Amino acid sequence: MTEPSPELMEKVVNLTKRRGFVFPSSEIYGGFRSTWDYGPLGVLMKRNVMDAWWRSMVQLRDDIVGIDSAILMAPRVWEASGHLETFTDPLVDCRNCKERWREDQIEGACPNCGSHDLTEARPFHLMFKTFVGPVEDDASVAYLRPETAQGIFVNFMNVLQTSRKKPPFGIAQMGKSFRNEITPGNFIFRTREFEQMEMEFFVPPTEAPTWFEYWCRERRQWYIDLGIPEDMLRMRQHDPEELSHYSAGTADVEFLFPFGWGELEGVANRTDYDLTQHATFSGERLEYFDQASGERYVPHVIEPAAGVGRSMMAFLLAAYDEDVIEGESRTVLRLHPRLAPVKVAVLPLSKKETLTPTAREVLDLVQPHFMSDYDETQSIGRRYRRQDEAGTPYCVTIDFETLDDRAVTVRDRDTLAQDRVSIDKLVDYLRERLPL
Ligand code: GAP
Repeated sequence: MTEPSPELMEKVVNLTKRRGFVFPSSEIYGGFRSTWDYGPLGVLMKRNVMDAWWRSMVQLRDDIVGIDSAILMAPRVWEASGHLETFTDPLVDCRNCKERWREDQIEGACPNCGSHDLTEARPFHLMFKTFVGPVEDDASVAYLRPETAQGIFVNFMNVLQTSRKKPPFGIAQMGKSFRNEITPGNFIFRTREFEQMEMEFFVPPTEAPTWFEYWCRERRQWYIDLGIPEDMLRMRQHDPEELSHYSAGTADVEFLFPFGWGELEGVANRTDYDLTQHATFSGERLEYFDQASGERYVPHVIEPAAGVGRSMMAFLLAAYDEDVIEGESRTVLRLHPRLAPVKVAVLPLSKKETLTPTAREVLDLVQPHFMSDYDETQSIGRRYRRQDEAGTPYCVTIDFETLDDRAVTVRDRDTLAQDRVSIDKLVDYLRERLPL
């Protein structure tokens, strides 16, 4: 078992700050309540995580289509979905130090001061409320969506009619969700504003158990294929009392974080709950009519629902490594090339002006194909180290010989092997090694 070391979390958080992956939001004002901004490397990696998910869910399949629905939806959606009534956490106050806690996360005493003088638990609503239009009255209340899934359910008939899909088929969506979490924390693990990657897979009712098992396997494998060691992942079945109000069965894909096992993604059997609720509340028929058999039914839904920030954090933690090269220690992010923010760094050996035009020519050549970086400051050793820390799989060095032989040195982040490659063949060489 690859047990994460206790200091790993601090090291990764420091690296992400130092190298511009993640910054505290509104930092010049002292930060803002566990919200985070993604910097130049972070935004690239976050998009790569989302692209990898979209690629496996939508691009490489012919039974799933995508949508992008609005964050603001009719408030009736949240009545129908059950969120208005049940999307709450039990909250207790410590009468001694006035701290607030989720009842299910403490064991009878205040974690801050140890007092047992706690209030009774009260339900605390997790949806952010806002007003739409110029008047702030009950009629203009709206909510920021707490899950992207409902945008999919309310578009079920639109997609069914326009895409010519039939069950079993899925609708995928990635985007922001908001929850007024009582106890955000652990860096980007639990935040109030976050991104989800969700897919609702609509199936004939009798096929639901088979598809549930299928999606559990597929989703676990996705993390493994992108570099997370198998022994840092596990599937955990929810106990009946833990299930969300819509779920007949849920299994979480969990990752071994430095603070213990934590959920990356939930795979839920939502049955026909959502479509039936929306049909009742909207008065619209939300069902599938199979012309061949003459059968009409409300499909059941299997939902794999993942978090972007959490996945990114797990990929970073699993990729972090330190080793020693020729007596010098280095930090390296052994990220899967598909997730690495920058794929290729173009580095002229020295800042001598004679090398710049050729180095720029190489940059122009690779840039349209791969996210690239150009760096001509500091010693080559230090520049390699900076790229290792950012997880860049390949460094391309232009030296004085390049001017004669039109070849460059390509250095591999993990093996440290150096290949001499002709500039003409460079893009092909990199394409063979960097997956689309
Ligand atoms: N539609 C089902 C749904 O939203 P969930 O288990 O509440 O299910 C799915 O959320 C995923 O979204 C979680 O596994 C997690 O990765 C991510 N997520 C949920 N709440 C989050 C939060 N407060 N901060 C960061 N990610 C969160």
